[in-house]
Amino acid sequence: MVTVAELVQSVARRLEDVGITEGRLEARLLLGEAADWTLEKIVAERDTPLESGVVARVERLAARRLAREPMSHVLGWREFWSLRFKVTSDVLTPRPDSETLVEAVMRALPDRAAKLRLLDLGVGSGCLLLSLLHELPQASGVGIDRSARALVVARQNARALDLAGRAELRAGDWGDGIEEVFDIVVSNPPYVPSDDIETLDPEVSEHEPWLALDGGADGLDCYRRLAGQLGYLVRPGGIVALEVGKGQAAVVARLIRAAGFIDVSTHNDLAGIPRAILARRSSPG
Ligand SMILES: C[S@@+](CC[C@H](N)C(=O)[O-])C[C@H]1O[C@@H](n2cnc3c(N)ncnc32)[C@H](O)[C@@H]1O
Repeated sequence: MVTVAELVQSVARRLEDVGITEGRLEARLLLGEAADWTLEKIVAERDTPLESGVVARVERLAARRLAREPMSHVLGWREFWSLRFKVTSDVLTPRPDSETLVEAVMRALPDRAAKLRLLDLGVGSGCLLLSLLHELPQASGVGIDRSARALVVARQNARALDLAGRAELRAGDWGDGIEEVFDIVVSNPPYVPSDDIETLDPEVSEHEPWLALDGGADGLDCYRRLAGQLGYLVRPGGIVALEVGKGQAAVVARLIRAAGFIDVSTHNDLAGIPRAILARRSSPG
């Protein structure tokens, strides 16, 4: 019988052979999923022999990962802001970089117990809106997406996180037709230049929705569209927070200033890349 350590070693080596850098961690995560074990248990039980059914389940998951299906699709979930989000091929996998935006918004709020109204344009899995609602117990919000299939996943995540009562998730084309003004508007729009998508890792280019990636010729189409709408979606004194791609921060900051926003700040991700732009809508007088 194969032991825990032997199986992890064998799967990790095969994952690394196809260019997956974190082979050992991923092998452990696959075993954790197949056996319903924590990572701590996997480390502690390294010499324990595994039942053949568990080994077969690990091998089935590993075969999908070896074909460069994203880990989030193989597992069916991804952790974001310490919460577990269901992930399918209908939504962008939540990225650690996007936690920069959540963190920047949280730091900008003087009163976390306020009854704030939030809007998330391009809600996808719901990771931004639902993480913020999780932190802000009196807040409620609206999440918009053009993809009906993404909204199905977002609604499942809202229910699983016990936030469905405070999150309205509905179809739309950015801010079109929205008449309410919000205290906080967040968005992580598609920002990859169209011609660059095919150069990305196969996990992204072949498995993630193009609607979540494609930012037009220069990657900035959605920001231009949003800049034209944010002035009437954010209340005077309210906050907008936008995620940006590498090298886009300065131009997006300019668009936001031109749309009537002040106190524009840039927030770096853990790799030191400017990743989120935060700004406040000027108040009259
Ligand atoms: C980069 S993903 C972000 C998803 C999620 N907010 C996150 O941070 O992981 C962009 C999202 O915008 C949605 N989207 C694209 N075009 C849209 C449009 N015209 N109106 C509303 N949503 C749109 C996509 O379907 C996708 O879910």
